[in-house]
Amino acid sequence: MSKKRILICVTAGIAIYKVVDVVSKLVKKGYELEIIMTEAATKLISPLVFETMGNCLVHTDMFHKGHHYEVEHIEIAKRADLCLVAPATANTIAKLANGIADNLLTSTLLAYTKDTFVAVAMNTNMLNNVATVDNINKLKNRGFKFINSKVGFLACNTYGDGRLAEPVEIVEEIDRYFIKKDLVGKKIIVTAGPTIERIDPVRYITNDSSGKMGYSIAEMAYNRGAEVVLISGPSKLNISDGINKIDIITNNELKNSIEKEFSNSDVLIMAAAPCDFRVKEQSKEKIKRKKESFNLELLPNEDILSHFGKIKENRLIIGFAAESNDLIENSKRKLENKNLDYIIANNITEKDAGFNVDTNKVKIVSKEEIIDIPLMLKSEVANKILDLI
Ligand SMILES: Cc1cc2nc3c(=O)[nH]c(=O)nc-3n(C[C@H](O)[C@H](O)[C@H](O)COP(=O)(O)O)c2cc1C
Repeated sequence: MSKKRILICVTAGIAIYKVVDVVSKLVKKGYELEIIMTEAATKLISPLVFETMGNCLVHTDMFHKGHHYEVEHIEIAKRADLCLVAPATANTIAKLANGIADNLLTSTLLAYTKDTFVAVAMNTNMLNNVATVDNINKLKNRGFKFINSKVGFLACNTYGDGRLAEPVEIVEEIDRYFIKKDLVGKKIIVTAGPTIERIDPVRYITNDSSGKMGYSIAEMAYNRGAEVVLISGPSKLNISDGINKIDIITNNELKNSIEKEFSNSDVLIMAAAPCDFRVKEQSKEKIKRKKESFNLELLPNEDILSHFGKIKENRLIIGFAAESNDLIENSKRKLENKNLDYIIANNITEKDAGFNVDTNKVKIVSKEEIIDIPLMLKSEVANKILDLI
């Protein structure tokens, strides 16, 4: 990505401390920043904090001597590829909605012609006030992109809507904005996480899958413009609001959920780790501790990938193979037997690859070739996999 320049407009909301983290994260991702703070914002936090964390100019005053540019608000507006107002106070939102330009920040935004994200943060009553609701709607109708506030505990000691979105979500929105939208018009089903097969009401069979690989694929596919359905076994991970997430527990639920989405889908990516077995007879009561050994009879679960491979028609199906031995041979066999287009093969015995880590090292196996993907973040592996589409 060529370096994109983001203008961060900081107003005097108490969530301003979270915007320091947003700035830090954007710098780490290689964005170039320029920051404007309102006078009120500088009373909550020193511009020096933003200057240091953003490694950039921080402007606070329209009329100070020693300007960096000839006509400061016009020049700053010209230089940015994107603008983010965060935290956005009710006051500044009202000014923007009404074309008021009484400080450097509002004057610059009036002269700004590209896209602006507004990350709202305020007390629930301020947010629900008809004046604020009207102002937000006005700006939305003019094409401003809102990063909605969240429900939670607020600094004013109340619980409700008005919390600034988490820094990671704000950064994701910005990343998504700049990413090439090459998957628009594609419906992609991604499965992720483990499945669970119960033994009794308190015990079950499962595996170590965290869902990280599947969630990364879903998130990246969404960033690249696809319509994404994420079918997930139990996982602690969060996913963007724009992704249709369906929660499942058992293999049967996984299969049924895919079935419902399959007919109008273009791609199925099976990153879930379904249980290969279930107990023949699930006990309705908790099995009591026993002194002597006993057997649990296991039945094979249906091979979901094979099932959808048989009815795939012109869809693309990508499976995963977590193997501890004979990686390539086993993967090639799966590819053939299950009628898949690609297998993402990972050797779960390798360090920093496979279950429950942030990185992966895989081989993409198709009939024609084997592509070696060296150790990288799962989000980067996700993009390599999506490139296949
Ligand atoms: C401690 C403190 C916290 C505040 N937090 C918020 C807030 O979260 N959201 C908001 O809209 N206003 C908040 N305000 C009120 C704004 O600071 C006030 O409306 C100010 O005029 C906004 O100026 P600005 O929009 O030019 O930055 C807060 C004020 C104080 C003193």
